[in-house]
Amino acid sequence: MLGLKLLTDPRWANIAESNLEEILTDHAWCEQKAATNAIYLVTNNSEHMEVVEKMLEIAAEELEHFRQVVAIIKQRGYTLGRERKDDYVNQLLKFARKDLSRNTSFVDRLLFSAMIEARSCERFKVLSRNLKDPELAKFYYDLMVSEATHYTTFLGLARKYAEDVDVDKRWAEWLEYEGQLIQSYGKSEAIHG
Ligand SMILES: [Fe+2]
Ligand SMILES: [Fe+2]
Repeated sequence: MLGLKLLTDPRWANIAESNLEEILTDHAWCEQKAATNAIYLVTNNSEHMEVVEKMLEIAAEELEHFRQVVAIIKQRGYTLGRERKDDYVNQLLKFARKDLSRNTSFVDRLLFSAMIEARSCERFKVLSRNLKDPELAKFYYDLMVSEATHYTTFLGLARKYAEDVDVDKRWAEWLEYEGQLIQSYGKSEAIHG
């Protein structure tokens, strides 16, 4: 699925379901981070109108996802906990190129974003297929579709602005790195945990 090297063990959904308040809190902050990342890309690449437009669209969608998760938390009588750190994302960020040309860093930031979308999409699929709660299963199905579109947008932009970056080669490196990294996860009630 989406080129991912390692698929999530479906039993992770049982861990998630055992603590819905925690997974929903973690998820809410994932959406907040996704919105922030899209705004970051606008801020740093304002000369590319297509990037500005597409990232503003994604930022709006991620903010809407954030709002929807918070609404579910409220509706179920849970509390939105404090912002959760995302260790997986921080580990991915270490792999992103930051020391080469400005454009190389930009293209790699797009690939970093595509990577998170791909894994989030896969995790949402696992939730949609395995949660016993029908309302949440449907919610995660819809989000899976949305994040798949974001994945395509990020990868498409990376190809468009590639210049001297060999995107296919670099994307293969990202998939390889992520495939190793994700082996340490899948054991806790967090979207990327
Ligand atoms: Fe989202
Ligand atoms: Fe997304």
